[in-house]
Amino acid sequence: MCFGFFVPENHNRPRVCAFFVTFVPQLKSKRMSIKNDIDISRLPSHIAIIMDGNGRWAKEKGQERLFGHLHGVESVRDVVEGCAELGVKYLTLYAFSTENWDRPADEVSGLMELLVKTIHQEVPTMNKNNIRLHVIGDLDMMPDQAKLELNEALKETETNDGLQLILALSYSSRWEILRAVKRIAEDAKNGKIDPASLNHEQFQEYLSTATFPDPELLIRTSGERRISNFLLYQIAYTELHFTPILWPDFRKEQLYEAILDFQQRQRRFGKTGDQLLQEST
Ligand code: FPP
Repeated sequence: MCFGFFVPENHNRPRVCAFFVTFVPQLKSKRMSIKNDIDISRLPSHIAIIMDGNGRWAKEKGQERLFGHLHGVESVRDVVEGCAELGVKYLTLYAFSTENWDRPADEVSGLMELLVKTIHQEVPTMNKNNIRLHVIGDLDMMPDQAKLELNEALKETETNDGLQLILALSYSSRWEILRAVKRIAEDAKNGKIDPASLNHEQFQEYLSTATFPDPELLIRTSGERRISNFLLYQIAYTELHFTPILWPDFRKEQLYEAILDFQQRQRRFGKTGDQLLQEST
């Protein structure tokens, strides 16, 4: 059987059918095997994503920008599910930057409403799937309703120890680093720390990511190749994956592609390839 493929009414029919019988199952299984190609023992423990391209996706369809954000939520759901299924421990999503406050007022309020609604809706699913929500960023800037909803979601998911889902909201690295420096200066003034002996471990305690490991893989969608003020300190040794896919089109399959790309990299952390080889033998 040829499952509805166009087969000309001529003597080639058996050959065409044979082609599909032989190759179609292979094509299908190849498509399905992307996930199976992932080496589960070498998953990035922390994936960070700059979700970009919602506006362009909407524009392509002749729609308002918020339409793109609305569909972006579907991608968030799919990717969170994909990470949880695989066993990725931490996922950080750049949902709203400090700079995004400068967008048109109706887009900002629309995005805030969408966030509040989505978080409210997703808490039961997060609990069912043992997902804990965290938020990093300048939450004082958020509208009261959003703060309320977020705090409730943080509390309601706080005992979950599966995927740790970190939303970067009203977040920027420069804000975070500056805040850390101010806190360090304050602690130094009060004699709590000795500036001369301050090291990396102590410094990162002052960042909003203090309880999370650095991301091992950073994905940015939409073809842009920038970091846009995101986790600048934490991505010192992170592998970067850029994809032209616009965020509302990003799904589990694209997540698997990014992980496979990550697994093909040799992570040297400043050492030579030979040194790594010696260490592994
Ligand atoms: C970037 O696309 C996207 C954002 C600034 C917002 C991301 C928000 C969501 C995906 C929805 C809510 C998320 C959660 C976690 C519930 P852009 O608007 O900059 O697109 P453009 O570059 O094409 O203009």
